[in-house]
Amino acid sequence: MRLLEAFRGPAIQLPNRIAMAPMTRGRADDTTGVPHPLTAEYYAQRASAGLIVSEGVWVHRTGKSGPGIPGLVTEQQVEAWRAVTDAVHEKGGRIFAQLWHAGRVSHPGVMGRTPVAPSAVRQAGRIFVDDEWMDTVEPRALGEDEIGEVVQDFATSARQAVDAGFDGVELHGANGYLIQEFLARNTNLRQDRYGGSVAARLRFPLEVVAAVADQIGAARVALRISPGNPENDIVEDDWKEVYSRLLAELRRYELAYLHVIDTPEAEALSHLRPLWPGTLIANLRSEEPTSREEGESLIESGLADVVAFGRLFIANPDLPARFALGAPLAAADHDVYYGARLDGYTDFPAFDPDSAKFACSARS
Ligand SMILES: Cc1cc2nc3c(=O)[nH]c(=O)nc-3n(C[C@H](O)[C@H](O)[C@H](O)COP(=O)(O)O)c2cc1C
Repeated sequence: MRLLEAFRGPAIQLPNRIAMAPMTRGRADDTTGVPHPLTAEYYAQRASAGLIVSEGVWVHRTGKSGPGIPGLVTEQQVEAWRAVTDAVHEKGGRIFAQLWHAGRVSHPGVMGRTPVAPSAVRQAGRIFVDDEWMDTVEPRALGEDEIGEVVQDFATSARQAVDAGFDGVELHGANGYLIQEFLARNTNLRQDRYGGSVAARLRFPLEVVAAVADQIGAARVALRISPGNPENDIVEDDWKEVYSRLLAELRRYELAYLHVIDTPEAEALSHLRPLWPGTLIANLRSEEPTSREEGESLIESGLADVVAFGRLFIANPDLPARFALGAPLAAADHDVYYGARLDGYTDFPAFDPDSAKFACSARS
């Protein structure tokens, strides 16, 4: 199986091509943004993944998107993350921190301030705040000086991530949060250096990459993108041009990898793969979780070097072993995806072949 083959890229070397996709689980202390003590065990249980990408972690409290999301800013947070990375490394794994600023996809009820964004364009829909869904609010457009401060927040958090023992950072440029809000025409109405032309809309994402690469070295930096993804009320009808130009700019760095979220039709991957000679991780968004068969075909076709699996990792901590054995896959209830509850977090067992054999012989 191709997914089980080792991967040797210029910047990352992995024992298999199965990555754990970043997944917010909402278990951190909501006041301090410190990850829950069980977080170390949660990720250590999943250390057989070729690479773990952590849940999105905020680089500034204003960029926090919902309850129980951890940060990577304070010393207390860094200490708690160090326990997580130690636990993963002890199990022989590798873990990148996903650095996240939610931009307008937040609420004063979540982080105490008016959310910030490239422009004062409210997101359609509702947002989960403190146990209930509420109307979104109009964000405040960032001033030009403030944009530089947010760039610095990413760089500072990247340094904290390395201090906390992460093997690198993945910048969250997908799913309608701050970085993609700068890229998309419907959320970026600015007429200054950061908006208007495609080149101007690329400026903020590229400044973040440059500042973070400068801080920790490009080989430890990755970027996640989701071209054309309408999530969180994004309209990107010009994604081909925007992302082709983004990749042309990024090629000057030897980044750890580019992480592309696409639909199962793989239109964005087909367009962008020829433009990206570096390491590419792919992940599919659809009703059903990305499957082993889809992963195999992404590698076979050359569209991806590594495939990220999200939902399957929630209930199958030993996903690579299950793929290898063709073992049954467990499913997690949606109710346990997020929240302060501790069930549905570290209590999914690894597959036990003996009890499966017993179950089979008992049935026959
Ligand atoms: C519970 C949950 C939380 C998620 N949190 C994040 C996140 O923090 N950052 C991110 O980039 N994507 C996040 N995603 C999206 C996943 O990384 C992935 O793109 C999506 O689940 C599709 O992959 P899958 O079909 O393998 O689950 C989340 C998805 C789920 C189900």
